[in-house]
Amino acid sequence: MVDFADALRLLHPLIAVAIVFPLIGIVCYFAWQTQQRRKQQAAGEKSKIPPTSGTEHVNFGRWLAGAVISLALIGIGRPLIAKIIESQLWQSNPAQLAFDVFVFVATLACFVFLYRVKHPIWLPVLGLATAVGVLALGFQDGIYRNDKEWYSSHFYIGMGATLLMILSLVIVQRIYQDKTGAWRRAHVALNSTALLLFFLQGATGVRDLLDIPPGWQEPFVYKCDFKNHTCPVAAPAQKSP
Ligand code: HEM
Ligand code: HEM
Repeated sequence: MVDFADALRLLHPLIAVAIVFPLIGIVCYFAWQTQQRRKQQAAGEKSKIPPTSGTEHVNFGRWLAGAVISLALIGIGRPLIAKIIESQLWQSNPAQLAFDVFVFVATLACFVFLYRVKHPIWLPVLGLATAVGVLALGFQDGIYRNDKEWYSSHFYIGMGATLLMILSLVIVQRIYQDKTGAWRRAHVALNSTALLLFFLQGATGVRDLLDIPPGWQEPFVYKCDFKNHTCPVAAPAQKSP
């Protein structure tokens, strides 16, 4: 039986595996179709790929971007709330608590409005505000970032993927408006990178799941030396006379 605190910790990986990664598959399938259809038409061929593939890609793409940003906020939010409760922040540092709550609510508001606006100025402004909010929350106390090994850190790679999804939402209109295809090429380059980061998130996420013990094992497991991969040897069981 999983304890409540452990179940809360599993919520983020569950959403990643059950919702976000299937969405990545759907978005990539339609991305491939969109590109093939465009190339076939440019070559003057008759394409068998349905003309709706581009619209389907964008519709699912918008869901994907929202799901990734929400997933990152859940990944950051759980340890942030745990730290607030553990250190009784409302007593020890109420100003810090007010700041955390303000940034969380403001980030959520900017994220919601990012989906509603189409104005060419408001889109980048809200995108930037959402990005700054997610980063500000991510750099709070209690979030496991593994700064020393940033290149293989689930946090830093996750931030990279999240920022690329925010950028995708900001530049959607430009892909259609730009006749030179530069924004389209930029989108493909940026989101192919995002795809690589998603893969690395899968790898670092399951690695971290292997590292994090269930709550009831923590007092023993955290006595281990994680750098040298050794644990204190348990005292031999007493022989009965
Ligand atoms: C894993 C993520 C993604 C990948 C790999 C990806 C890749 C692609 C590719 C290959 C194309 C076709 C480009 C061409 O015609 O040569 C495309 C088009 C497009 N993508 Fe994405 N994309 C991703 C996510 C997104 C997201 C999150 C959005 C929006 C929020 C988005 C919006 C668009 C738009 C507007 C187009 C143009 C569609 C059309 O021509 O009708 N994409 N993308
Ligand atoms: C798009 C994919 C993903 C993104 C953007 C993402 C993002 C994040 C972020 C920002 C954190 C907080 C920093 C940290 O503790 O490392 C986090 C935590 C975590 N992630 Fe992910 N993640 C993704 C996928 C996954 C997957 C596939 C798994 C495992 C199957 C996973 C497992 C975890 C775990 C175990 C934690 C610690 C959770 C906690 O302490 O409450 N993540 N993730």
